[in-house]
Amino acid sequence: MDLKGKNVIYEGGFGGIGQRCLREFLAKGVKNLVIFDLQENADVLQDLRTSYPEANIFFFAFDITDKNSITAAFEKAVEKIGHFDVLVNGCGMMDDTKVELMIEINLMGLIHSTLTALPYMNKSNGGRGGLIINISSVAGLEPTAVVAVYSAAKHGVTAFTRAMANPHYYNHFGVSFITICPGITETNLVENIHDKVNFKFAEVLGARLDTAERQSPEVCAQNLVKVAETGKNGGVYMLDLGEIKEITFPTMWTPVFKS
Ligand SMILES: NC(=O)c1ccc[n+]([C@@H]2O[C@H](COP(=O)([O-])OP(=O)(O)OC[C@H]3O[C@@H](n4cnc5c(N)ncnc54)[C@H](O)[C@@H]3O)[C@@H](O)[C@H]2O)c1
Repeated sequence: MDLKGKNVIYEGGFGGIGQRCLREFLAKGVKNLVIFDLQENADVLQDLRTSYPEANIFFFAFDITDKNSITAAFEKAVEKIGHFDVLVNGCGMMDDTKVELMIEINLMGLIHSTLTALPYMNKSNGGRGGLIINISSVAGLEPTAVVAVYSAAKHGVTAFTRAMANPHYYNHFGVSFITICPGITETNLVENIHDKVNFKFAEVLGARLDTAERQSPEVCAQNLVKVAETGKNGGVYMLDLGEIKEITFPTMWTPVFKS
């Protein structure tokens, strides 16, 4: 999608990857940028407004674990900007000791956000269609033992997003779906992985992962926005160590119809 003049909503925009993505989107000339996050980061907001005075930048606080809060945030955003062309579901957390919260933030919240956004975007009902980018993870591609709960939530994100890209849905909503799977990226989320595991004996796996190569959030953000411009509906893109790789999946099951 050509991002110039477009309206973008970015959830989790003040996070490590989010902040850099906001800059990349603004550098592409988006017209209205709405940030949803738990808390305002006044310094980042001020800096973005100073650096990109031609764009309108708004912030609305929301808690992705609360469905009413998601609904309210979209209502406020649409009241301000009228419509949006792109939604990025970029909230996340990683701490396998907090099972419910992991599923609520990484998976349920992302699903509720998507389902809340769709009626606004729905081409079959007066909307303009657009693009929804859901941030999964390499742990949403490859079962990742050390953070098995996080990995399960992110596999859910990958499956949900691929399913929503079904042509039947696309023809109805006019909304493309892209899954982004970053590799380990230098942000708070991956600090001290060994402290966020469920089994004492597995801390060594976490400590090992703590030493794995990481990419910078800037590089991850550049590639995410590149994919927003060039990616295709249903595409799953791994962004690892500065590279973009499109992932293809085998078809493992198709229903057998009676007639
Ligand atoms: N950093 C990595 O190595 C890595 C790798 C793969 C995928 N990811 C994914 O990328 C995305 C961004 O992660 P990041 O590394 O920038 O992490 P981060 O911790 O820097 O940012 C996470 C963002 O989510 C927001 N958030 C958390 N809980 C929330 C809630 N209840 N309601 C609203 N917002 C909430 C935070 O406020 C923050 O802005 C996440 O989906 C993460 O799972 C990160």
